[in-house]
Amino acid sequence: MEDFEKGKLVSSGKAKSLYESPNPDYYIMHYRDDASAFDGVKKESLEGKGATNNKFNAFIMDFLEKEGVPTHFERLLSENESLVKRLEMIPVECVIRNIAAGSICKRLGIEEGLDLNPPTFEFFYKDDELHDPMINEYHIESFDWATENQVDQMKEKTFQVNEILKNLFADAGMILVDYKLEFGSFKGELLLGDEFTPDGCRVWDSQTREKLDKDRFRQDLGDVVESYQIIAKKLGMEQIN
Ligand code: TMP
Ligand code: ASP
Repeated sequence: MEDFEKGKLVSSGKAKSLYESPNPDYYIMHYRDDASAFDGVKKESLEGKGATNNKFNAFIMDFLEKEGVPTHFERLLSENESLVKRLEMIPVECVIRNIAAGSICKRLGIEEGLDLNPPTFEFFYKDDELHDPMINEYHIESFDWATENQVDQMKEKTFQVNEILKNLFADAGMILVDYKLEFGSFKGELLLGDEFTPDGCRVWDSQTREKLDKDRFRQDLGDVVESYQIIAKKLGMEQIN
């Protein structure tokens, strides 16, 4: 993999930093070893997480692209870096839940593990200080965060991803419990942006229902990066560590 010169820092999130690249249409996404949860309240550095997530994301984005979901991902540049299209991000998180876990259990008083049939969809406003409040499509349009057409596309694409990835994980002996996607526009086209890694989804072993995702970090279950690598290996990813 070549060494691609990083330019100016564009923005830095809780686990990734974005840099300019020599081409104004592209950014370099750097996956750091930082882990964070509860809107940045719990923080730790986990050796190898950045490289693991970088490669994990590349595998999933490539897979989605081949299955007809357009994404911002171009290619891996190095252990911790990927080249991505420069998107104008929509400040909204799209969540699909196949099984109840996390915030929906608290919010609606449901037991973890309940099958959600059909899967449920939620929008959240991306703002840590406000604790990513749940919103609906009217908020998105009233505050001009996205157009009606983009809202429709975000929902459609998030469900399309569910059909693709639910099967991918099931065939590898795992359950895709829930996940979060973010979208942005590139020259007028809506593309899947950000990342798809175990930081932003829940994955359980189908047999044992053991948690393999970031809940291991949130709930202090240990072996966080090791579990991410177990998911990766089960999915057939090579050279993940
Ligand atoms: P939740 O149960 O906390 O609402 O999260 C649902 C899923 O979406 C879970 O896999 C974590 C992911 N998610 C994020 O990665 N970042 C976020 O800011 C939110 C709200 C959810
Ligand atoms: N937005 C949250 C955070 O990373 C999501 C989580 O708890 O994982 O702080």
